[in-house]
Formats: sequence, structure tokens, C-alpha cells
Amino acid sequence: MKRTERAEALSYTLSLANEYVREHAPLSDKSKRPSYHLTPEIGWMNDPNGFCSFGGKYHLFWQYNPFEPKWNSMYWGHAATKDFVKWEYLPVALAPDKPYDWGYGCFSGSARAEDGKLYLLYTGVDEDAVQQQCLAFSSDGVHFKKYERNPVIPSSKLPEVYPIKEFRDPFLFRRGDRYYALIGTKTELCGNILLYRSKDMKRWKYVGALFGGDEGGLNKGVYECPALFEADGKDVLMYSAQFLPSDGNRFVNIHSSVYLVGKLDLTSGKFNADYMGETDGGFDFYAPQTVTAADGRTVMTAWMQMWDRDYVTESDGFVGSMILPRELVLKDGKLYQYPVREIENYRREERRVPDLVLDEEEKEISALRGTQKEIQFKLDTGTAERAGIRVFSGKDCALSVYYDRKAGTVTLDRGTCGKLIRGAFPETNFATRSVRIASDGNGVLSFRLFLDRTGAEVFLNDGAATITANVYPDREAENASFFAEGGSARFFGVVGYEIEVK
Ligand code: FRU
Repeated sequence: MKRTERAEALSYTLSLANEYVREHAPLSDKSKRPSYHLTPEIGWMNDPNGFCSFGGKYHLFWQYNPFEPKWNSMYWGHAATKDFVKWEYLPVALAPDKPYDWGYGCFSGSARAEDGKLYLLYTGVDEDAVQQQCLAFSSDGVHFKKYERNPVIPSSKLPEVYPIKEFRDPFLFRRGDRYYALIGTKTELCGNILLYRSKDMKRWKYVGALFGGDEGGLNKGVYECPALFEADGKDVLMYSAQFLPSDGNRFVNIHSSVYLVGKLDLTSGKFNADYMGETDGGFDFYAPQTVTAADGRTVMTAWMQMWDRDYVTESDGFVGSMILPRELVLKDGKLYQYPVREIENYRREERRVPDLVLDEEEKEISALRGTQKEIQFKLDTGTAERAGIRVFSGKDCALSVYYDRKAGTVTLDRGTCGKLIRGAFPETNFATRSVRIASDGNGVLSFRLFLDRTGAEVFLNDGAATITANVYPDREAENASFFAEGGSARFFGVVGYEIEVK
């Protein structure tokens, strides 16, 4: 499309998008969707954006293409919640309707409530793919106006070593009377994150780069979607590193979500890290953001999906969901994650299962049957070589999550769970992910699983590790079973709940 035609077409895209959603969303078949994970009403969803608290609610925006379940010129979808579980959809917040964003669209960014207004800082990507940071604001938290002097951080404020087409995902925060923005970028060698400073969110000054610029070795990707929060007197920096090289069981995906615990020096921009962790040990977790809840909890969401793989739900008219939001706590300098406690208000039909010992066998547990559930259990690993649970289980279909004694890991195996996922790089392991895990000294591990039709989130050892994965099980695959191989294991504290969000 030519620039002029495009401008004309786009002068009404926000209303077009909203109209399209209003007309088409009611036709989409909700029975194939997760129920307590946020999905787009219709179309494509990627990164969470602008997770914030405003007007007595938590607001979440996301990278959105309402018109089809494929990535395209980006809008910002919008929903709000009071409890992180039940969401109310709001009108599309941003459309690619200005010369600085009508090419590739309104890319990821963040939000800040200030003086009764809600500000969004996002990346406008124009027709030539040039990426610049732009501001929008709203008084009612629903209708947004773009600042007339956008872009507020134009590519002219990007030091020359960084490419103007790789300068995105501003994370806006405040310390004292100054605003700051962290922005993802890269050089030929490595990803990096840049710090900018401002007095008013409109005029910005470059401060410096967080990293030296060569620590990634062969890591040639952008450090996308930076986000920062404070915990225990430390700064926790999260970002999503494209093409991060793997390190044992960590960072095995094509792209990885990383967190660093340390200190950000606001004068130089340098980040001094004491620890680097993988934020989630599964396949489908990217671009996390956090919000501080009214009671002080740090609550995280993330895109529960991944780039460079195929998107099985396309034929059902939607792609993408968010994780069930998680409470984050720093313990011994590492991140612990817990499903938001509000999910417990949506438990139905508690089913307790008597303790059981299995020796070289597998036992179906009918009380744990179902595809929208929470399941908790403890595993005394005993003498078993492998022991764990199978869910989404039917004829030739199951998702397995098990302890592997030899490897010292808990492994999630989706390699036989219905429709298999393949990706752009054929050598990628899309079937299994493993996390190193220690028992409590008595050989006991704890498991907490959340199943929701197209995915599972696994919390291990009271939040010490998580494994998140999309799965697309066969239709009737609803059984659950415990198993022990190569010895015996004991399962105890077993309880299951239906999770129902109306
Ligand atoms: C990360 C990302 C961001 C970008 C957005 C585009 O998933 O590539 O860097 O802003 O998605 O939709």
C-alpha cells in the first residue's frame, strides 16, 4: 500500500479495529480456549505491555492484531482486572495511525500512572522499520491520545553503534523526581539495554548502556522487553534475549527470558549483576512485565507462547495467551514464583486423593481427571529412577512431568501430547525441557500444576522453579495418572480442583 493510501485507510483504524472485534469476537468458539488465562477476544496476541495499576484496577495491554491470528502491524489490546484472574476487555488502546508508527505498528512498551493520568511509552515503528519511542496518555484509562511531538526519543538520540531498526520496548519507571526508560537494542556482537532519563517523560537524555556489550559472546539478538522491579533492596532486571546460547539445561529455547539480580547505577547506566537466572524453565514464556499490587506484592505476567514456532490455534481464530499472573519473591538472591493467590477463589470441587506408593507401575487417578485444573502433590522419590504425573492423557496422548534421578532434574515432556509443535529451526527440541531441582533432603519434591486446555504451568518446590508449556492435546485426553519407573515412589498430599472462571 502506498503511503498516502495507507494514511487514508489508517485515519480510522482504531474504530475499525474496535468494530471488527465487536462484530467478530462473539462468533469465536470459546470451548477450545483456555478459560482462566487471558487470551485475545479474537486474533493475535504477543507481549504484555503497560501492566499497571490505575483507577482502582490493574490494566494490561498487549501486542495485538485483531484482524487475524497472525502477527502484523501492531495495535495495543487492552483489558483490566481487579484480581488478576477475571478480566474485562476494553477497547483497543493504540492503533498504528501516525507516520512514525503506521508501518510495523505500535510495538511493546510500558505504562505509568501520574497525576491522575495514565501514560504509555511505546515503540513506534514506521514503514522503513525505524524504531523510535513515543508517548500516549489518557485521563480515563480507556481512550488514549498520542503526544503531538512524538517521537519523544527519536532515533537521533540513539548512539551510533546501535542500529535504528533495533531500538525498542521502553520500560518507564521513576526514582525520586526523575523518570527513566530502559530500551532494548543490540550491536553486531551482542544485545544491550540503554538507559534514558527525563524530568517530564517528554524530553529525554541518553545516560548509558547497562552492559559492556560483549558478554553475550555469540549472542547476536536484541535484549527485548526490559522490565525492572525492586525486591529486598536489590534491582531485578528482566529481559528477553533473542538467540541466547544455551548453558546446560538453561536457555535451551531459541529465545530466552532472563533475570538479573543486582544494582542499576542510575548515573552511569551500568547494571552490576550478582546472579543471572532463566525466568521460566519451559518453552512458552516471553517478555514478562510486573506490577506492584495494592498490598505491595510484585505480580508478573508474560506471553505464554514463543517466537519461531508454529501456532496451532490459528485455525480456532486466536493465537496467544498470558500466563496466570505470578507473585514474585526474592529468596537467597533468587526468584521464587507463586500463582496469584486470588486463583484460589476460583477453585471448585476439591478432590483429595489418599497417599499411594507405586512400584514399577502407573495408576490412573480419576479424581484428577480434567483439562482446567489445579493439581498439587508431593513426591517422595524413594528408589524410583523416574516418577511423576501424566495429564492430558488419553489413547497415545499425554503430557508427562517427572523427576529423573540420574539427571537430577524435573522434566516436562510434551512430545506425545496431541498436536506437536515445530519451529523455524528443525534441530530445536520442542518436546522436553528439564530444570535442575534439589529435594528437601528427605527426597521430597513438591509439584503444583495448572492445566488450562492449551497449556500447563508447573510450579516446583514451592516456587523455586517453573516450567510453562503450551500443549494441544487430543480431544478426549482428560485422564491423569501417577507413575514410578525403576523402583518405587510415594505420592502424598494429593489434591485436585476444577478451576472455573465465569
Ligand atoms: C518481543 C517483540 C518486541 C516487539 C514486539 C513486536 O516479543 O519482538 O521486541 O516490540 O515483540 O510485536
